[in-house]
Amino acid sequence: MSDLDNQVREVKSSFDRAAGSTTTTDGLQELKVRYLGKKGALTVLLKSLKDLSPEERPLAGEVLNTLRDELERKIENKKQALTRAEDAAAEAMEKIDVTLPPRGRPAGAFHPVAQTMHEIVSIMQGLGYSVALGPEIEEDHYNFECLNMPSWHPARDMQDTFYLSNPEDAGSGSLLLRTHTSPVQIRSMLRYGAPLRIVCPGKVYRRDNDPTHSPMFNQLEGLLIEENVSFSILKGSLVELMNGFFGRELKNRFRASYFPFTEPSMELDIECVDCGGKNPGCRVCKGTGWLEVCGLGMVHPFVVRSGGIDPEKYNGFAFGMGLDRMAMLKYGINDLRYLFNGNVSYFLSGRNVS
Ligand code: DAH
Repeated sequence: MSDLDNQVREVKSSFDRAAGSTTTTDGLQELKVRYLGKKGALTVLLKSLKDLSPEERPLAGEVLNTLRDELERKIENKKQALTRAEDAAAEAMEKIDVTLPPRGRPAGAFHPVAQTMHEIVSIMQGLGYSVALGPEIEEDHYNFECLNMPSWHPARDMQDTFYLSNPEDAGSGSLLLRTHTSPVQIRSMLRYGAPLRIVCPGKVYRRDNDPTHSPMFNQLEGLLIEENVSFSILKGSLVELMNGFFGRELKNRFRASYFPFTEPSMELDIECVDCGGKNPGCRVCKGTGWLEVCGLGMVHPFVVRSGGIDPEKYNGFAFGMGLDRMAMLKYGINDLRYLFNGNVSYFLSGRNVS
């Protein structure tokens, strides 16, 4: 009997010590298992009752049951105290101070095309260019005539647009939605004269609508007019722009092309930013390894003269690129329509629009 007394005292004191150092409800649960669980200290004692003689058993049973009640009570009391403390702590953490000034909602982000425009403009500003803007409702005169695209010119076929007046009635003064940002070249030369370094971002319009063409899209035009401008300066500037925009050195190639407003005319291809030319099945470069990103050339003397500048004294270069395409390439957007349909979920679903 005294042996049992000792064991009871032992269990009691070790329990009290353990309970005293238990500070969480989780810890308390463990404690409960340790004493009252299937293999718990008290359970083991209770199981040993069967080894006692029938005379000893009732008293021993009473002692152990009393102990069990005591431990259960202590655990329950402690549980209530700890739960209260934990609730209070959680509440304090979540407490809302309604007197604080509002922090505002998480702000939205720039549209990928706007972001692209800002990045390109900022690179070009670093090269000494200013921003010039022109109207989206443009005169035939600036959009075509001054750019060496008279009404009969076949190059107009690729740039059919939306007319706001009948070209036949109003001639070169007729109004249309501009088909490119190139008319801003003329307006800027007329307004600022030479020397001149400008970039002109903005919306342009064409009678196109398919998965890769939208009736409205965004371009960025560049124009430099100075004395003795060489083609190598044009090459250097554009390579700088592309590498700066994509954040690494990309292979490039300049291909002969044709535009009525430049002579000679070129197109710039950069190495495929998706596969680097290594994937014959690449959907971005169609397996060619190259991406056409920019039209460019030395400004045609006709255009310099249209801008009111003497082509004998000044020359220069121009380039034009699609901002939507640049945004798609940089941010891995695989369908032009995501840019315009107003469904932001595409961009929120983990796309890398940084
Ligand atoms: N305006 C041309 C287009 O929309 C792009 C372009 C090509 C602009 C060559 C330029 C240039 O300034 O030099 O297709």
